[in-house]
Amino acid sequence: MRKLIIFDTTLRDGEQAPGFSMTVEEKITMAKQLEKLGVDVIEAGFAAASKGDFEAVNGVAYQIKDSIVCSLARALESDIEKAGEALAPAEKKRIHTFIATSEIHMKYKLKMSPDEVLERAVKAVKFARSFTDDVEFSAEDAVRSDREFLFRVFEAVIDAGAKTINVPDTVGYSVPEEFGKLIKDILNNVPNIDKAVISVHCHNDLGLAVANSLSAVKNGAGQVHATINGIGERAGNAALEEVVMAIKVRKDYFNDIYTDINTKEIYKTSRLLCRLTGSFVQPNKAIVGDNAFAHEAGIHQHGLLAKRETYEIMRAEDVGVPSSKIVLGKHSGRHAFKTRLEELGYKNLTEEEIDRLFAKFKELADKKKEVFDEDIEALLFDELFKSYEEAKLLQYQVITGDKAIPTATVKVSVDGEEKVATAYGDGPIDSALRALEKALDVKSRLKDYTIRSLSHGKDAMGEVRVIVSFDGNEVSGKGISTDIIGASLKAYLDAYNRYSAKSLFIEKKIQEGI
Ligand code: KIV
Ligand code: ZN
Repeated sequence: MRKLIIFDTTLRDGEQAPGFSMTVEEKITMAKQLEKLGVDVIEAGFAAASKGDFEAVNGVAYQIKDSIVCSLARALESDIEKAGEALAPAEKKRIHTFIATSEIHMKYKLKMSPDEVLERAVKAVKFARSFTDDVEFSAEDAVRSDREFLFRVFEAVIDAGAKTINVPDTVGYSVPEEFGKLIKDILNNVPNIDKAVISVHCHNDLGLAVANSLSAVKNGAGQVHATINGIGERAGNAALEEVVMAIKVRKDYFNDIYTDINTKEIYKTSRLLCRLTGSFVQPNKAIVGDNAFAHEAGIHQHGLLAKRETYEIMRAEDVGVPSSKIVLGKHSGRHAFKTRLEELGYKNLTEEEIDRLFAKFKELADKKKEVFDEDIEALLFDELFKSYEEAKLLQYQVITGDKAIPTATVKVSVDGEEKVATAYGDGPIDSALRALEKALDVKSRLKDYTIRSLSHGKDAMGEVRVIVSFDGNEVSGKGISTDIIGASLKAYLDAYNRYSAKSLFIEKKIQEGI
């Protein structure tokens, strides 16, 4: 068995991409989850880059015990010193120093000759060793570097004390076969390579980062740099969850290789990153996308219900997704529909009720591509519990500003009766939601809140999604508006209506003795 070292760079390469910056506290929260996930190395930042980066590396170094904490540093004494200082409290620390070795970078960016680069690399590694024995050296743009020169640099830095030599495909230019061969060539042409681990760092400009990383592993790489959800510069880095699950699911192909990743923590880690950075993963993203374990086609759904392995190569639970999801659509059959009703908790419906609901469902599925749980519940209430009347938003007004206490007044109609309430809050949305809660006369806790733009431009529609806990029942809601306060109120009301409808429906069913 050969262990593959997982070097996570979500907090460094990932965080430096536009839209993914995190505060020190957020980075520490993320680092703790990465430790739980079982990554071997956490690259917490680039200590010399800014005060914030220094504090983040330092904060992570204080908090993390199991994973190695790493800081990036250019091959400069001042950078390495900062990295050493920030990492001082860490139980296990690594300095990752780098310099470019491709002709284009040396000539135009560094304005240095190859010999000067080699000398600088050796000096940097020796200096980094004065802070820690664990030093990694990266030859930036290795893929486009002259091979003989690259081998020479690697040999020299290993002699200088580097324990890991990293081979970055900085611009995401390589293809799997070629990249695998490069790793094999390094193994065969760097005489002291047995004293170091070969690592790879692949960018995704051609969508090949994961494939290139796996090809490298197959050809002898012992460490992979990766990020959660594949975030990183430009098109990102190799997605950690994809590399790890490929190694696990295809253990027959990667015969002797394993990782120490607790794969059950993958989904949680992915969602935490989304929450901290306000980002979304595309629905069809491998492993962690909303559709990764969703099945829509009727034939697939039927096969899946008969034997899961017919259409699933891994179990949703293995990556921490609660269970595989069947998305119902016009191709779905009665069997899948009934199963979904049961999963939603409606186990006692009569066959006649299911027939009626299924007919309505087919009508809806013809109009709507995907039928979600919420749609099914709405159908159920419409069809079987028509007397229910939902709460509606009639009017709202919010006063806010840097010198004003945010105050909101909300008018709703509940069962035809108008109710008005006013509340203060920490901001316009908080005050609006407090006023709404008061008007509805409910106690609730907002468990999750996300907002995103559905289109471009200043007048774009905003979509708010919430998860609200009513009496310990977590209910989701969605609201769309060009006004974010309106969208927030609608999302909360949507959750409230679902909650009340569900409890009334269940109550009625209980009263009827069903
Ligand atoms: O892409 C790259 O080359 C890097 C190095 C600093 C490893 O991020
Ligand atoms: Zn990079």
